[in-house]
Amino acid sequence: TASLPQYAIEDVMQHNNTETGIWVTYGTDVYDITEFVDSHPGGDKILLAAGHSIEPFWDLYTVHHKGEVKEILDSMKIGQITLVDRMRLANRTKHDPYEKEPARAPVFRVNSLKPFDGEPLPHSLIKNFVTPNSHFYIRNHLPVPEINIDTYKLEIKIASKPAIVLSMEELRSKFKKHTVMATLQCAGNRRAEMSEHKNVSGSISGVASISNATWGGARLRDVLLYAGYTEDDAEVKHIHFEGLDNDIAKEPYIVSIPIEKAANPLGDVLLVYEMNGKELPRDHGYPLRVIVPGVIGARSVKWLGRILADSDETLSFWQTKDYKSSPPTPHTGCFDFRDAPPIYESPVNSVVCEPEPGEVLQPVDGEISVRGYAFSGGGNSILRVDVSADGGKTWHSADLHAQEQTPYRTWTWTLWEIKVPVLENSDKVEIMCKAIDSFHNVQPDSISGIWNLRGFLNNTWHRVNVSTTS
Ligand code: HEM
Ligand code: MTE
Repeated sequence: TASLPQYAIEDVMQHNNTETGIWVTYGTDVYDITEFVDSHPGGDKILLAAGHSIEPFWDLYTVHHKGEVKEILDSMKIGQITLVDRMRLANRTKHDPYEKEPARAPVFRVNSLKPFDGEPLPHSLIKNFVTPNSHFYIRNHLPVPEINIDTYKLEIKIASKPAIVLSMEELRSKFKKHTVMATLQCAGNRRAEMSEHKNVSGSISGVASISNATWGGARLRDVLLYAGYTEDDAEVKHIHFEGLDNDIAKEPYIVSIPIEKAANPLGDVLLVYEMNGKELPRDHGYPLRVIVPGVIGARSVKWLGRILADSDETLSFWQTKDYKSSPPTPHTGCFDFRDAPPIYESPVNSVVCEPEPGEVLQPVDGEISVRGYAFSGGGNSILRVDVSADGGKTWHSADLHAQEQTPYRTWTWTLWEIKVPVLENSDKVEIMCKAIDSFHNVQPDSISGIWNLRGFLNNTWHRVNVSTTS
């Protein structure tokens, strides 16, 4: 409005530290965010915009493009950019960091377009034991990088030893190719249900942020040994993986895993260049990604550029502030993610994929068909999936379809199906499933005890409401 103070862009630029106050612009408005910086959910990255427009950053982290975030911003408004400067801004052209994304088959439920987060529809997810590449869920945090295979090099540095570099050609020729079938599941799978219980932050995944593929590539262990790692090297406790998907701050996607998993000859951690016998697609990490079987998807770094063996875990944003759990009732605003340990293995989980919520079913001989998946991390297999269609009064054990199960080394999901008796002509039939894994771990029955701020690892009994005719 006309009564708000007017500021030149030069004024805004001078407010770029805590002494002067921290100002930013959005559209034609000016905001004083000094007080907000410490409580920003995305950490001190916000300071990159100090004295500037936040728009290029919000175009990258499109999680900001929603009403609640705009409300926070509006509460900090102090004025407007002068008319002269507004005209200067209007003449600038905008650059979209997502303009070079790969083409995607129109088969996904899109949870976020920029960065892309999409999952297949539940019924198509379980059509195949091995998910076709075109249907494999995609979870990106940043734009997909464009990588020139001719100049691409992987750098590997073992603690204080000198770094070595390998081309893709060398990775293929110097190391035996191993293939491992492994299911990848995002820690945010089933976040939507958690958010219905109580709001959580993060993109709202349904039940299909999980898929299964055969991965081909070199064993991480072989590459570490080649680069100078020795098993008695007490200096090395964690392996860091750096992606080439840089953000504006030039801080790439980096996470780490403990050496006990990384160098375990039976841990099956691979540096992958083939997915289901085909070249790794761009969305899944071309030309090279890590696959850490049995561990949440976040550790399977795509577009791998560098491996570092170190005495500590990485201090990156993604390792220290994300992919962590919180108590179900944290003191609001006070929970410090740095105090929580990172999530690695995923807990036992199972989901009904068919029927989908809201379907009207016609029972045959008083029964309906129910199908889904079950999965447990850490190499655990699935012993049993129990299914109920009467709110849990009676349970029936489903038929399981799994690969040959190697104890402690089962990396793939189990698909299951069963015919269960139901009431006919009922407005509300609640179908539920729960699995038991080879450690006899069971799923919790409700969300309240495992709810957490970021909505990770929802593995509660899955419930689907349908109705029946006669
Ligand atoms: C996340 C607010 C500026 C980087 C968030 C979230 C809020 C927020 C509410 C949590 C969103 C959710 O997960 O639902 C704001 C406000 C800003 C601002 C009010 C106004 C100045 C920035 C800037 C940057 C940034 C300038 C980057 C340079 C991030 C990142 C996350 C985040 C990296 C985490 C994204 C993720 O978990 O995927 N911000 N933000 N923010 N913000 Fe900001
Ligand atoms: N690696 C990089 N470099 N950048 C990313 O954003 N996302 C992670 C992981 N690896 C990510 C990444 C997350 S959260 C998941 S769940 C998996 O990749 C998803 O792998 P997919 O897209 O091949 O299914």
